Amino acid sequence: MSPQPNALNLISRPRRLRRTPALRRMVQETNLTVNDLIYPMFVMEGENQKVEVASMPGCYRYTLDFLVKEVAEVYALGINAIALFPVIPEAKKDETGSESYNREGLVQRTVAALKESTPDLVVITDVALDPFTSHGHDGLLDEEGYILNDETVEVLVKMAVSHAEAGADMVAPSDMMDGRVGAIRDALDEAGFTNVGILAYSAKYASAYYGPFRDALDSAPKSGDKKTYQMDPANSIEAIKEVELDIAEGADIVMVKPALPYLDIISQIREETDVPVAAYNVSGEYAMIKAAGQNGWIDEKKVILETLLSIKRAGADLILTYFAKEVALMLK
Ligand code: PBG
Repeated sequence: MSPQPNALNLISRPRRLRRTPALRRMVQETNLTVNDLIYPMFVMEGENQKVEVASMPGCYRYTLDFLVKEVAEVYALGINAIALFPVIPEAKKDETGSESYNREGLVQRTVAALKESTPDLVVITDVALDPFTSHGHDGLLDEEGYILNDETVEVLVKMAVSHAEAGADMVAPSDMMDGRVGAIRDALDEAGFTNVGILAYSAKYASAYYGPFRDALDSAPKSGDKKTYQMDPANSIEAIKEVELDIAEGADIVMVKPALPYLDIISQIREETDVPVAAYNVSGEYAMIKAAGQNGWIDEKKVILETLLSIKRAGADLILTYFAKEVALMLK
């Protein structure tokens, strides 16, 4: 290194620690690793098929046989956990989402198959009725179309217990009904599943970023929106209240969703709580990066890593992301 004059008489030169890659690595505050990632995956009925989701390039709906193979690959890459979402045929949907707790249902069969094929993989199931209801809402409706809380929780409880019976390691209520975490915890314990955990979608916002996911599952609400149960994007104090309630009711991990437009919420919750905090880098966040990448407008791989790092830096301990497999390959 050639000598440099101190023309400005500076004492502090932060650039000193940025001069070489090794120096930069030494002072790097946040690291993204494969252990941070949870991979959301879609399963559908049938055999021998995978179908790409149009609005989520690189994401597929897999039939169970294909999913088992894909999951083996994903686990071999070091990904510890998947979050499972089912595509339910219209014919099996009804007003109350009763297929959700069918012991022979798609989710239940898939969980059992995965626990057989990759027993060490953490299988997390989604607990919400929207893939199962004919109207596409996360709960039961009254005559005016209002989503009934306590009646819905009764169904969610049955659903969660059926997932535990199938072998799920954790259940993840994503419905935003009041009191569901406590009710699920009680029911799991009563059924002997004291070791099945709850990853609570605690601060889940009524977000337009879920669009591509609803395409993937054909689960968009047929009427109205989800604003009477999911949170108002304008609120942050309320997020803390939701998190506190879920922890008091027995949540093992709390989640903020979506991630990128809510990094401030992730930070606040990380500071306020003493359980792991997850963030869901949702379908719309994925689709925007993919679209720009496919157009050659951004360096996709770098943007993916920077995005996930930012979620981690904001305070997330875990990230649910459709980029999980790609990132695991990049980090190898
Ligand atoms: C279902 C559920 C949704 C997502 C996860 N679980 C959609 C919704 O609430 O409408 C969204 C995930 C994503 O957009 O990636 N309750």
